[in-house]
Amino acid sequence: MLEVIPSGKILGATINGLDLAQPLSAADFAAVRDALGAHGVLRFPKQTLTAQQLVDFSARFGKLEINVANAFQEPGLPQIMILSNMLENGKPVGLSDAGQSWHTDMSYSKTIAFANVLYGITIPKRDGKTLGNTEFCNMHAAYDDLPEALKTKLEGKTVLHDFNKFWDMMRREKASKRPPLTEAQRKAKPPVSHPIFLTHPLTGRKVLYANPGYSMRINELPEEESAEILAFLFEHQTKPEYRYAHVWEEGDLMLWEDIGTIHNAVADYAPHEHRYIKRCQVMASEFGEGFAQCEV
Ligand code: SIN
Repeated sequence: MLEVIPSGKILGATINGLDLAQPLSAADFAAVRDALGAHGVLRFPKQTLTAQQLVDFSARFGKLEINVANAFQEPGLPQIMILSNMLENGKPVGLSDAGQSWHTDMSYSKTIAFANVLYGITIPKRDGKTLGNTEFCNMHAAYDDLPEALKTKLEGKTVLHDFNKFWDMMRREKASKRPPLTEAQRKAKPPVSHPIFLTHPLTGRKVLYANPGYSMRINELPEEESAEILAFLFEHQTKPEYRYAHVWEEGDLMLWEDIGTIHNAVADYAPHEHRYIKRCQVMASEFGEGFAQCEV
């Protein structure tokens, strides 16, 4: 019997009583979707899943993305990307530094992300303390608390998002060993624009849809004003009062929605402290092909 236990914090709930290796009943699926709208970030503890079962569970929520980075896919299942700092025969088995700064997955995509599904297989610990948390911020709350004058000023405005912004920042500021994106990869994900405020399809409430990782500029404002307002928004949306940290346990399946949250993978573990996670990204295609798209 499914049980939803809210974290009591600004985001987060644990869902007990489901074996995600089995197909979800229609009633359980509806309950999980409701919980996703209510809590944004869900944890399903003690799961044992094959790669195919991870894909099957994720695909219940929408079409799955095949990541443009195109490396470290599960053999035969390109919908799964491996996030790991582990090596096999001296070679990396996964992308070792995915998401290590505040961002929203796929805000750089024409069809944005609805949800992320991460399955934690190996989680680092030091002296009994779990490392490699995933942190989140609540974009419903961030929108609600914006000054009314700014809400009015930004209503109807759009933001340009670029995949390359995060990729380049990781190489420049975090000594990432990722190679520069190839021309073909850049062409596959050209910069796109989305409204700065979205009405969340699960809650019907407005959210701030901008993030430090990918948001480049507010299209309708002069360059300097756009930069000033984005700097304000990036600081505002990551304030401690909007934050929630997920402390991983091996066997956790995490499902979070990307329209009303931003997230950050905390890089507090060393190369010998192993982390191995499998990830699927669910696109927001179920809300209509044009959801969140705009031509600018
Ligand atoms: C991501 O940004 O999807 C990665 C999150 C994590 O590894 O904690």
